[in-house]
Amino acid sequence: MKEDLLLRWLTTDPEAYDRMVGDHQMAAYVATIDAPLLAACQGRVLELACGTGRLLRLLDARPEVQQVVGLDIAPRMLAAAAARGHRLLVQASAEALPFSAGRFDTILCAVYTLRDLERSKVYTEVARVLRPGGILAFTLRSYYTAYLETLWREFLRQGRRPRSWRHLDGADGVERDLKDVKAEVAALKRAGLRLREISSVRFLPFLRRWIRPGYWHGGMGAFFGSDVIFVAEKAYSLISGSL
Ligand SMILES: C[S@@+](CC[C@H](N)C(=O)[O-])C[C@H]1O[C@@H](n2cnc3c(N)ncnc32)[C@H](O)[C@@H]1O
Repeated sequence: MKEDLLLRWLTTDPEAYDRMVGDHQMAAYVATIDAPLLAACQGRVLELACGTGRLLRLLDARPEVQQVVGLDIAPRMLAAAAARGHRLLVQASAEALPFSAGRFDTILCAVYTLRDLERSKVYTEVARVLRPGGILAFTLRSYYTAYLETLWREFLRQGRRPRSWRHLDGADGVERDLKDVKAEVAALKRAGLRLREISSVRFLPFLRRWIRPGYWHGGMGAFFGSDVIFVAEKAYSLISGSL
């Protein structure tokens, strides 16, 4: 992870973060991308980048979930989660997980946090600490939709076209969003994770109000949907000659 991004999270005010995700419109947006992730969770669950524990609470309430561990790099975010009563909290980077092999049944990472991490490292670590057949569920924001939305917002805010088309004047890290679904699936596969399901949140830039809420299934939706939801499974290893 880049140092400036890390520093941003280490200095984030947890209360300000909670206010932002608690805002009515934002809360509805995150609830839509959280729902399929929560539905994939069962058994011993690890949430990567758990922040102030927003999802830990929802995970704890699910009968199919036996244990919930939250991991985050930022001590202040974890302190806020602890203040909400969460006990199994670990301060570490998702790129180097301090757990033994096969420890978890499900690992999830919400919003589009993985965008800012070295995902190949995270996938390798996830594959190590998942049991065979265990599930990784996460979301990434679609570059194409995020680009158009961000461009439009910046245009409205600044009243001119951006000076940088690539970084849109530095707005919102859109250049790190998901561009290539096939490359992502290949990276998962290299780590030993097989794609089970892919879907995306229904959304068409500028046509928001005409779109029925819900999800598109399959990789094509990644071009139009706002957020892409991946559910992958740790492959069972075949031990040759054991039969
Ligand atoms: C957008 S917040 C998401 C918080 C929470 N999952 C939620 O849905 O509200 C991103 C979180 O990622 C954490 N984070 C950033 N880099 C990390 C890393 N390398 N390893 C673990 N956590 C990290 C930040 O500290 C922050 O709490």
